[in-house]
This record gives sequence, C-alpha cells and structure tokens, in this order.
Amino acid sequence: MDITIEPAENPLKGSVITPGDKSISHRAVLFASIAEGKSVIKGFLRGEDCLSTISCMRSLGIVIEEDADSITVMGKGPYGLKEPAELLNVGNSGTTIRLLSGILAGQPFSSVMAGDDSIARRPMRRVTGPLKMMNATVDGREFANYTPLWMRGGDLQGVHYFSPVASAQVKSAVLLAGLYASGKTTVTEPFKSRDHTERMLRTFGVNVETDEKSASLKGGQKLQAADVFVPGDVSSAAFMIAAGALVQGSHLIVENVGLNPTRTGVIDVLKRMDADMMLLNETMLGGEPTADIEIKYSRLQAVTIEGSDIPRLIDEIPVLALLATQADGKTVIKDAAELKVKETNRIDTVVNQLNELGADCEATDDGMIINGPSKLKGGNAESYHDHRIGMTMALAGLISETPVKVKDTDAVAVSYPGFFEELERLRKQHV
Ligand code: S3P
Repeated sequence: MDITIEPAENPLKGSVITPGDKSISHRAVLFASIAEGKSVIKGFLRGEDCLSTISCMRSLGIVIEEDADSITVMGKGPYGLKEPAELLNVGNSGTTIRLLSGILAGQPFSSVMAGDDSIARRPMRRVTGPLKMMNATVDGREFANYTPLWMRGGDLQGVHYFSPVASAQVKSAVLLAGLYASGKTTVTEPFKSRDHTERMLRTFGVNVETDEKSASLKGGQKLQAADVFVPGDVSSAAFMIAAGALVQGSHLIVENVGLNPTRTGVIDVLKRMDADMMLLNETMLGGEPTADIEIKYSRLQAVTIEGSDIPRLIDEIPVLALLATQADGKTVIKDAAELKVKETNRIDTVVNQLNELGADCEATDDGMIINGPSKLKGGNAESYHDHRIGMTMALAGLISETPVKVKDTDAVAVSYPGFFEELERLRKQHV
C-alpha cells in the first residue's frame, strides 16, 4: 500500500506507547520453546518478524497460544522439537533465521529455512561458518552463505569464536548452539553488541559469563520456563522521538522505552545533537532498564557517529540520517559497512531516497556524509520493502514543502504495526 504524508502544519503533541521490543520478543519465544514447561510472555511485539518466529516454532512442534495481552509457550526442553515436515519460513526476519540456526544446529534432525527476497540476499556464512566449526552439518547456496539453508545438527563441540563483526545475531546463534555442545563456548566481538540473549538466558536459568567483549556458557545447561515482560523497542521509539525533534513546536512523551545500554546509542547521539530530551520514570522491566522520554522540537547540531557507537544504534541510522538533514553542519557516519547487509543496503537506500527528496547526502564505503540543514522538497519515496526506510520516508513527509508519497508501506508492520495511525493521532492533538 502507498501512503501520502502531508507536511505537518501544526506541532505534534501528546503521548505514544512504544510497541514491544523486536529483539526481546524473538528471544522470548525461542528460549521458551526449548525451556522445560510453560512460559508466559507479556508485551510481545505482534510484528511480522516475531510472528515468523512463532510460526517456525509451531512447525517444530511447539504449542504457542496467543491472546489479547500475552503469548503462552509450552516449552518441551532442549530436545523436544520435532523434525519439521515443511520448510521453515522466516519471512523478512534475519533474527529468526540466524538465532534459529543456533538451535537447529543442536537438533539431530534435518530442517530447511528460507524467507523472502531480502532474506535471500543477506549473508548467512557469518552464522553457518561458526556452526560448522562446532560440527553442525549446514548447507545453502554459495557454500552455506545464502538461503535456503539446510541443516542437520547434533554432536556439537564448544568453540571460542572470534567474530569479525559486532553482531548479536551471530553471538546469539553461537551461544545457543553452545547450549547443545560439549565443553564451553565463548564468543568474542570487536565491539559489544546488544546483550538481550545473555540477559534472557539468565532469566531462563542459564549461567552465562560476560565481560567487555565476550560471552561464554557451558554446554548441557537446561532452560527452565520463565515469565517474560518485553519492554518497548527503542528502535521503534526512535521514530516518534525523531518526529518530535523534527516538527517545529512539537512536544511528545514517548512511553515505555527499553534503555538497555547496548541499544541506547541513538539517545546518546540525540543528546550530542542538542535535542531537547529528558528521561522520565526510569525503572526496570523484565530485567531491562526502561523510561519514558520527553522530546521537544529544537535546533539540532551535526555530529560524527563511529566506532563503538555503531552496534549500539545500527538500526537507527536511517532515522538519524533524516535528523542530520535538518542539523547545522556536516554529519559523518562511518564504520557502518554492516548497513549494506540489512533488510536493504541501507547506505544506498537512505542516501538515494533522502537526496531524491532534496537533501545533501553522500554515500561512503562504510557510511555516509550529510550536509545540513536542507529544506526537503517532497515527492515520491520508496520503502524498498524495508520497514525502517518506509518509516524514515514517512517522517520526511512531515517536514517537506510538499507531501511525500511512500510506496509499499506494508513492510512497516515488520516492527511497528500501527505506526501510521499513531503518527496521524499525534498530528491531530496539536491543540
Ligand atoms: C538484532 C541484531 C542486529 C539488528 C537486528 C536485530 C537482534 O543485527 O540489526 O535488527 O535481535 O539480535 P546484527 O546482530 O546482525 O547486527
């Protein structure tokens, strides 16, 4: 579906509740499935990606009940999954295919995973490589780099894996396989990636040791069912925070934002950009820090985003790039080559789409340079079926001279069902 976003004639006002965290929702279903007993998940994100995880686990024989405010998973323990009769369809979800690979690597049966066109282009050797080192049998196109991925697991050995990329998906896959392996499994990364797996495995009773850049666990540990409360997703909140920061005179409260320190790069960068922002009601929910965020429109300054910032805000770079088009000066984003292997090549899609609307951006090998401020003209924008590109372009419509028509907005339901309705509601609350 195409949606046209009219320029905002009035400030955005009011409050908005952030939908559940996508990373945590996936993990809750996956871990509960291999735990012993019944786990209840509250605050679960009913986005397309997390629904793909539910559907894969059902194909593996797990009973999952959904009702209005919770998901109940009847865990069958580490070896309770059954060989699936059908292909496991991961849809658009990189987290599903990569984390599930780690679990399937431990199963003594055969399974095949595949997803949509975007998944078919995303590199899987980063996961299948270490799983093979652990003794899993894995294959796929181009020597196990692309879907469909086929695997037959079992008899794994622990490894110390030095990942060339800071990737929570890689780290999680190897740690999950490590639960089925003999001895100890350790993953060391160049920079610390999001640590939801380590935190949630502990909630399910697994002993995980961590330091600055490594996480380790011993094989053979059993997960015990646990109830999980999923906090709001800072990556989704970032779009509403950005809307408040971009539209003149706006004042929003974005409620229930998960503030795990491995995810809050966007908050730190917004502060460096001089955003008028405050954290309210800070608390802990489900083992993760959360708060409400008050954001008011203000003039923004250009910044440099690099190094250890990057894994802490990798998913927020599209919306940060839009913010940078309105900031005074030259914003430089580097060390972010990982953007090329997300749902789309987000260096190209962000730079091309923002330039198309009248911004001054340049793609580099590992990021982009954005000269601001520019008055955006408006026009046609593509989502390229990438949820975060679709939402970024919608926000561009709020601050353009003429409307922005965003093509193929259905992808937004991957992480933020109801995004357009919420934006519309905030626009109507200006008085
Ligand atoms: C995710 C990790 C990140 C992130 C993705 C979700 C996760 O990917 O971009 O949206 O849930 O583990 P990488 O781990 O590949 O960087």
